[in-house]
Amino acid sequence: MHSVISIRDFERKTIDSLVKEAIAVRRGAVIGHFGDKPILASLFFEQSTRTRESFWVAADSLGMRIIGFAGPEGTSLMKGESLIHTGMMYEGYGASLIVMRHKLGGAARCLSEALRIPVINGGDGPCSHPTQTLGDLMTIKESFGRIDGLTIAMVGDLKYGRTVHSLLQALESYDVKVILVSPEDIAIPSWRIKDYERNSGRKIYCTENLSEALARADIAYITRIQRERFPQGSDGDVAYKRVSGIYCITAELLRNANPRIKIMHPMPIDKDNPEILRDVDLSDNSLYFEQAENGVPMRNVILKKAITDGFGDKDLVPEMPEEIWRKRELTYRAKTGENKVWHLGDGTLIDHIEPGSGHELYNLLKLVNQDATVFVASNVHSTRYGKKDVIGVHDLELTTEQLCLIGLVSERATINYLSNGEVVKKGTVCLPRDILNVVKCQNTGCVSRGEHHESVPSRFKVESRTPLQLRCHYCETPIERKDIRLYTQQQ
Ligand code: NCD
Repeated sequence: MHSVISIRDFERKTIDSLVKEAIAVRRGAVIGHFGDKPILASLFFEQSTRTRESFWVAADSLGMRIIGFAGPEGTSLMKGESLIHTGMMYEGYGASLIVMRHKLGGAARCLSEALRIPVINGGDGPCSHPTQTLGDLMTIKESFGRIDGLTIAMVGDLKYGRTVHSLLQALESYDVKVILVSPEDIAIPSWRIKDYERNSGRKIYCTENLSEALARADIAYITRIQRERFPQGSDGDVAYKRVSGIYCITAELLRNANPRIKIMHPMPIDKDNPEILRDVDLSDNSLYFEQAENGVPMRNVILKKAITDGFGDKDLVPEMPEEIWRKRELTYRAKTGENKVWHLGDGTLIDHIEPGSGHELYNLLKLVNQDATVFVASNVHSTRYGKKDVIGVHDLELTTEQLCLIGLVSERATINYLSNGEVVKKGTVCLPRDILNVVKCQNTGCVSRGEHHESVPSRFKVESRTPLQLRCHYCETPIERKDIRLYTQQQ
């Protein structure tokens, strides 16, 4: 792995060694210099000061040349050029590496898969910001000498703040206590809490009370309210006004806090509604300037590794069974519906579909395109289930590959292959691990959504088959069966 897309891709041991190396660089270790002046393409489709500048300083110290843009103004993005075409061009101009920031979730993942050179994610919409997290962990380790054993409160805009999303993911593999402080309107998406609690085996404590958290925490990591991510228009304005200025850390407030508490902030601090008052800047509690400065040594190490030996591959999670066809006994009795609504001599019968789901399955399997007569029967009497839908395809054996998506619509459908009116093979199929271009990502800010015109087909990973849970390959938003929407109209 040479790209840095999401902290989920990193093993704890890799994170620890990056932190160790970056601390050494900060203390003066020389990391080297590329003699051949590799090119860093710095593609900032969104605003940035710290992330962009620290990458530049780090790249410069490695002897790299830097090309790219800071904001779409002045580029062909204004003429409607796509993300992938933009990236391909920089690759064509000889870039060895791309650092990018983009408003869409999963943008960095999608570009890294479209190119041969490594891509570093400098922030993708509200989703993740892995290099910030690596710098944050370095700062914590430098300041406390450890990460394990600490209580870390994350405060403020936990809904849109990508830095806290990545930090929370990273902390899954450290022995820490996490407190989340935010009002309901800007609370962290509940799936992120579920992920953390499932993967770490620890509970998160949520509160709206900042003082309570400051009294208990070793670190308060406060974030700016991400005004730019609120919905456009008056609804967004109202929602923003409700929460702007809601939390502000002051020297006064810190009097009742844990006296050794360190305040972190990814910056920038909003000068109109500051999350931290200037009187904290110079106190012993402030850690946010070191945090920003640590961006340089950490990105130094990241650039060096991305160009040379990479970050190692994470051990794969236990594989799901490869076999997608599950054989069933041939206990075929004449179907009650058989004489009433259909008769299938040869072909494929999809039986026991949940009533009302037959047409959805017909669309999902694109049976309209099949050169065969197809029937969909609804509300057929079933001795086992009461009611069922049934799909029959005359004179054609649908392939297992074709049928393997059934699990997206039906939990219980069985497949029968018939020859001369006899069932010759019966079974069920399970979902493949990757589902391409069928399920619509529920995150409207995902790069795979059609309205963004980036020509990125949706892609989901099947994390669990029962109960069904899929996860968007790009923006990492999970989805459960009840929320699945299919692109069934697409031909
Ligand atoms: C943050 C970001 O862009 O996500 N800044 C940063 O990279 N240091 C936080 C923010 O913009 O509020």
